[in-house]
Amino acid sequence: MSQSKKLGILLSGRGSNFEAIADAIESGRLDAEIAIVISNRADAPGLETAKRRGLNTKLIPSRGRVREEHDAEVVAALKEAQADLVCLAGYMRLLSPEFVRAFPHRILNIHPSLLPAFAGLEAQKQAVDYGAKVSGCTVHFVDEHLDHGPIVLQKTVPVLDSDDAHTLSLRILEQEHIGYAEAIQLVLSGAIEVEGRRTVRRTGKAEGK
Ligand code: GAR
Repeated sequence: MSQSKKLGILLSGRGSNFEAIADAIESGRLDAEIAIVISNRADAPGLETAKRRGLNTKLIPSRGRVREEHDAEVVAALKEAQADLVCLAGYMRLLSPEFVRAFPHRILNIHPSLLPAFAGLEAQKQAVDYGAKVSGCTVHFVDEHLDHGPIVLQKTVPVLDSDDAHTLSLRILEQEHIGYAEAIQLVLSGAIEVEGRRTVRRTGKAEGK
């Protein structure tokens, strides 16, 4: 049996997407292992959750640091942990070009909108305020621009007349938790390849585990 690929998870807050990934691994839906969970914030609840789950964790505070220096430390920790794929899970920092180059097409992010609509902060509020009828989430490869790289998958969610940012966020989050593990499995299985801005299915390659 081939060895499971190693994930490096980066988070800044609650960490529910990280937990969904860890749950997907535990239940066998995702063939991977979490090599390290890194937070740039000491108060991130996700960091505590990761410790409780017995995972390898590291706090690398970013406040007041030059981006390139902080990123170099994060890259070194990811390399030391031998991460094959880096998953941003509510990691609220733009990555430097050096970071992106250290893991070419090996960094994923999840964003709570159908990109390119509503990039940046409070994407769900942006969707409600704009009057969108459909929103959702996007898992994409990371480049040096905000919420921008090639899209791996998207899940749609209707925006109801009764929605506010909170209720829409909850409904999108359910899809995030399903979609992130699916996207990671797709990437790790080699079932897709990047062609410019697009990701396409490799012909003759199964999506499975
Ligand atoms: C998620 O909704 C994620 O999509 C969003 O932050 C939240 C983190 O929640 N990420 C972004 O907006 C990135 N631009 P979590 O900490 O519970 O996973």
